[in-house]
Amino acid sequence: MTKIAILLSGRGSNFEAIARSVASGLIPAEIVTVISNREEAGGLARARALGLNAQFVTSKNRTRESFDRELAAALKGCRVDCVCLAGFMRVLSPEFVRQFPAKILNIHPSLLPAFPGTDAQRQALEYGVKFTGCTVHLVDETVDTGPVVLQAVVPVLDGDSIESLSARILEQEHKIYPEAVKLLVEGRIRIEGRRVIVRAE
Ligand code: GAR
Repeated sequence: MTKIAILLSGRGSNFEAIARSVASGLIPAEIVTVISNREEAGGLARARALGLNAQFVTSKNRTRESFDRELAAALKGCRVDCVCLAGFMRVLSPEFVRQFPAKILNIHPSLLPAFPGTDAQRQALEYGVKFTGCTVHLVDETVDTGPVVLQAVVPVLDGDSIESLSARILEQEHKIYPEAVKLLVEGRIRIEGRRVIVRAE
């Protein structure tokens, strides 16, 4: 069984969506660990409540290299095959990424390459786009640039606030992230240049 790890920093609703899909058998994998760089992350408490292995690895007052080394060691200790970033608000070093080639997924709340980085929903509102959405991509050595696996489009409505737009995007995140994890775990993803080609079931 494929072993997946979840890295998160906050609420963890995407983690929960993945965990539900694992529990229902949609994703043929096992969540072997949930790791947070924030001790108070809601997602970490939720992982513990679900009886999963949950670890806190502090990122405070330390270099990226030192944090990433401990993170990689924790993942290797659990013999992890795939890593899912689910609201993980740390940039991973190229050295870390190279240890899991084409095996790290991230979810981002915009249609990349539009609005990378932080506050993607705010950026979309401020720019005035009529459609935004979310993207699941493979993580490469720079931020929010890896090959796109799945995207979902979400309309921006005239009365939207950051909160209402974020909530509408989040609903779609919870659909496409488990679907993308399933594709990766089932080995149905092939990369051609920048394009991800998905093999039909
Ligand atoms: C999600 O909206 C995710 O797309 C975003 O953080 C939120 C985490 O929510 N990620 C990023 O902005 C990454 N740059 P969650 O903790 O409830 O899954």
